[in-house]
Amino acid sequence: MAQELERFSVSMEKQLVEAFDAKLGEKGYPSRSEALRDLMRGWLNDAAADEHPKSEALGTLTLFYDHTQRDLAERLTALGHEHHHLILTTLHFHVDHERCLEVLALKGPVALLRGFADAVIAMKGIVHGKLVLTLADASGKPRGRKPTRHSHGPGHWHTHG
Ligand code: NI
Repeated sequence: MAQELERFSVSMEKQLVEAFDAKLGEKGYPSRSEALRDLMRGWLNDAAADEHPKSEALGTLTLFYDHTQRDLAERLTALGHEHHHLILTTLHFHVDHERCLEVLALKGPVALLRGFADAVIAMKGIVHGKLVLTLADASGKPRGRKPTRHSHGPGHWHTHG
């Protein structure tokens, strides 16, 4: 069912609009409206998660780091084991001789996931880290369904409709 559309005008610096327009094509957006809708949804999603610190959330923590940094691998492993109840699975890629890319799939209360992510990202040797969260019961999905574990791979799970 089509939703009612609201049109509004926005004022901003010409330079900012030009830079934005230049990126639209690169990213494959057909219009400013579609790009703005995505930005607003992302902003609202982040705000919703922050407003419900005790709510169950799903997320990914992406880390880029130098494993030769003193003790980093050991400290990361120790922190991961301390928070094993929040970590569904981990993907690790050895990028080259020094650099690693790691993606952790997380599930737990918003505040605990943020606390864990902040502690990891703040570690010396982590070059880049970013947490992406979404509330587990957001976006009109049926409530009260538990994700089901399947046998087709460690840590692989999804919810059946
Ligand atoms: Ni590695």
